Amino acid sequence: MSFSSSDPDPDNERERWNQKYREASGAETWMVPDSFLPRAFSEYILPLFPHGGSALDFAGGAGRHAIWLAKQGWEVTLIDISETGVEQARQHAGPLASHIHFVVDDLTHFKASQTQFETAFEVVMAFFYLEREIFSEIVKALRPGGLLVYKTYTLAQAKLATGPKNPAHLLKPGELLQLAAGLRVLHYQEEVAEKATAELVARKEI
Ligand SMILES: C[S@@+](CC[C@H](N)C(=O)[O-])C[C@H]1O[C@@H](n2cnc3c(N)ncnc32)[C@H](O)[C@@H]1O
Repeated sequence: MSFSSSDPDPDNERERWNQKYREASGAETWMVPDSFLPRAFSEYILPLFPHGGSALDFAGGAGRHAIWLAKQGWEVTLIDISETGVEQARQHAGPLASHIHFVVDDLTHFKASQTQFETAFEVVMAFFYLEREIFSEIVKALRPGGLLVYKTYTLAQAKLATGPKNPAHLLKPGELLQLAAGLRVLHYQEEVAEKATAELVARKEI
């Protein structure tokens, strides 16, 4: 499956991330889910979907969030450009791999309507990945009543010692709320701590 027929050169991005995952191989930090996922799960996901469901993890990397959700009994599809990251996700998942559908692809030109992913998921999540152009397509992967769980860096991250500095990958103040216009926002928070982030849980109308 490919979403990216006219991508100028996805190979650079792919190789950059492959190298990061090769260098980080075995590092525990890649496997600890961001604390926002367990919080969003107990406060929003579990009450709405007590019997589980299907989730899509955009740019899911080495699988820390997909695996955590699969452990809670969910079926998860993980998409990422890095075959090294996705292979690590498969290895880390162990027996849970049978509950995770692993997809290596470039999301730059993702179009939900051209895939089997349109209105297919109770939960769509993205952690530390920002591609503004496809935000509305990400939302289209949600079923009516489904939840978007999104967290990524804000511009304030550029002033911190580590982490991404390129504004193309950093949210402006309030930008995540604007991107999610049309969804019912259940939770939103911007924070500058160890990382500078914005996090959101929002529901698609039924
Ligand atoms: C900061 S990592 C976050 C990974 C994961 N969401 C997590 O929190 O552990 C960003 C991820 O985006 C992926 N990525 C970057 N560009 C991409 C693209 N064009 N299509 C799909 N994935 C991409 C990278 O391979 C990497 O796994």
